[in-house]
Amino acid sequence: MKALILSGGKGTRLRPLTHTGAKQLVPVVNKPILWYGIEQIVAAGITDIGIIISPDTGDEIRQVTGDGERFGCAITYIPQRSPDGLAHAVKIAQPFLGDSPFLMYLGDNLIQDSLANFVEEFLKQSLDAMILLKQVPNPTAFGVAQLDGQGNVLRLVEKPKDPPSNFALVGVYLFESVIHEVIATLQPSARGELEITDAIQALVNTGKTVIAKQLFGWWLDTGKKDDLLEANQIILDATLTHAIDGDVDDATKISGRVQIGKRSNVINSTIRGPVVIGEDCHIENCFIGSYSSIADRVKLVDVEMDHSVVLEGSIIEELHQRIVDSLIGRRAKLVHSPQRPKASRFMIGDDCQIELV
Ligand code: G1P
Repeated sequence: MKALILSGGKGTRLRPLTHTGAKQLVPVVNKPILWYGIEQIVAAGITDIGIIISPDTGDEIRQVTGDGERFGCAITYIPQRSPDGLAHAVKIAQPFLGDSPFLMYLGDNLIQDSLANFVEEFLKQSLDAMILLKQVPNPTAFGVAQLDGQGNVLRLVEKPKDPPSNFALVGVYLFESVIHEVIATLQPSARGELEITDAIQALVNTGKTVIAKQLFGWWLDTGKKDDLLEANQIILDATLTHAIDGDVDDATKISGRVQIGKRSNVINSTIRGPVVIGEDCHIENCFIGSYSSIADRVKLVDVEMDHSVVLEGSIIEELHQRIVDSLIGRRAKLVHSPQRPKASRFMIGDDCQIELV
């Protein structure tokens, strides 16, 4: 069994962060989203992994993620010149996949359920495809499945205006090599892409065995800011262990589960977990409330913050208001200015979103 992770795409819904980096590398609890998928695939016993990359962000993904050694797997990078759809990605990966069955994983998805049981059941039952479904309140944003009374797949529709059910297709699929034959005959959809949803529908139409499994744990498609903050909250809740490797002075109060990385200094602050702070940070006179993730080399002085994510190298100083529900990009600078006239001065990148009180 092999795995194919799709890590191309433009990440338009996470701009401005994705102007300068890949959406799959945006961290959740200080770890790139993509790495969670790789770790789950390896935990399910699959160690031969292909990753589809795009010309814009492929080099960064390759450089950050490496050859797979750190995960205990072998990674082959497969460039996709243009984003022509999920089924197109499978098509160009065919030389890597050969006639092996494979698990396909969309690199911006995070799921709680272990993949091992699905892989085992797929192989044991000799199925042609297995899809994973999750009930959602907004099915129009996803591929949607219509099932019969026994849970068999009748119909799949991509982003339907009038959804036949609230069962969304999760971005994890298992396929036998027959999928390549179907993809070879596929026509581009109305949005000009070769859709994996149409390929699976074609399997159903030709009487192949396609079964659907429901996910009961959480599933997060981390394409937008609020999804990302939710993912951060869920993963902090589920996985964070207490570990203080940095220096914390006596005036600092730490409660709950808190992780502080090496060479980070925390001075005269209150930190209420779950909170993760990376390496080489400087935190002084701050309140850092639950569900915050602070990446490496961040400097926070006189800051109150809750339920927020701050990426690498940012500096925030002397803000006289609390930061909540925020996502602050790499090397951002948010500081108090003593300069006159007393006023706010901005240099804000494209597609930023700032809400002032
Ligand atoms: C893709 C699939 C869709 C699926 C979703 C899951 O959509 O086309 O069927 O429900 O992933 O994340 P996209 O996120 O590319 O819009």
